[in-house]
Amino acid sequence: LREIVGTKKSRRPHVGITIKPKMGVTDTGAAQQFYEAAMGGVDTFKDDETYHNQWCSPLLDRVAKVYEALDKAKSEGAHPEGDYMYAPQVTVDSERSLEVADKMIAHGAKGLMLNIMATWYPALRALAEDPSINVPIHLHRASHAALTRHPRHGISFKVVAGLGRVAGGDMIHVGTARGKLGDAIKFVEIPEIIDEIQKPMDHIAPMIGIASGGLTPNNYHYSIDLMGLDIQLQNGGAVHGHPWGTKAGATAA
Ligand code: 3PG
Ligand code: 3PG
Ligand code: MG
Repeated sequence: LREIVGTKKSRRPHVGITIKPKMGVTDTGAAQQFYEAAMGGVDTFKDDETYHNQWCSPLLDRVAKVYEALDKAKSEGAHPEGDYMYAPQVTVDSERSLEVADKMIAHGAKGLMLNIMATWYPALRALAEDPSINVPIHLHRASHAALTRHPRHGISFKVVAGLGRVAGGDMIHVGTARGKLGDAIKFVEIPEIIDEIQKPMDHIAPMIGIASGGLTPNNYHYSIDLMGLDIQLQNGGAVHGHPWGTKAGATAA
C-alpha cells in the first residue's frame, strides 16, 4: 500500500475518503465528489459499505467514472507522491466475487473493498489467491458488533482481523480512539488488534489498520497516539460536511 500511495519513505498515515451515498449519489456524483477530495489532497478512496450496484450508480460505470475523475485530478497536479487507490465494493455472494472483481479490474479498479462480516473468509481467500486479482483488498467490518461486543459471548475482533490477515486482506477497519462508535473498551482492544495485524508472522504481510467512524481532523491525534503511524485515517461525513464543501474538507483532513 505504501508503495502505491508513495509513502514508503515518509511513513505518514494515509488519509482516506468514503463516499456517503445514502441520499442517492449517482455514479457521476461520486466521481465529482472523489475528484474534489483528490484536489483537496486525499490519498485513498472507497465506497461506503451500503454502496454497491444501485440503480442510480451502476457499479462498473462508477468504477470507470471515478478513475477517469481521479486521472483528471492527477493530470492537474493532485497527489504527486504516488498513485491513487479507489476501492469499490466487491461484497457479493462468495461464488460470484471473483467474476465481479475481474470485471471491476477490467474497468480500471486498483483496489477492492470487501465486507468480511458479510462474506466471511472464503470470498477473501478466493480473491487473494487468484493471480488475476493483483490489487489491495480493503476489509470493512460493518455488523461486527453483533458478534464481537457481548461481554460474555462471541468472537474477539482481534481473532476476526487476524484471520482476515492470514486469508489475504491488506487493510482493515479497527475502530477509532475518538469518534462516533465504540466505548472505553476500545483503548484496550485497538492496540491488541493492531498487534495482531502487524506483528511479524513468517511470510504473511502485515495489514494497515483503518480508523473510521466519526473521524475528523480535530480528533486524528487520539487515534494516531493509540494506533501509531501505519494507519489510514478514514473520513466520511466530516469531509463532505465541511461548510465550504468536500475539497475544503479534504484539505483540512
Ligand atoms: C452442534 O450440534 O452444533 C453442537 O452440538 C452445538 O453445541 P453447543 O450448543 O454446545 O454449541
Ligand atoms: C466508513 O465506511 O468508513 C464510514 O462510513 C466513514 O464515515 P464517517 O466518517 O462519516 O463516520
Ligand atoms: Mg461507512
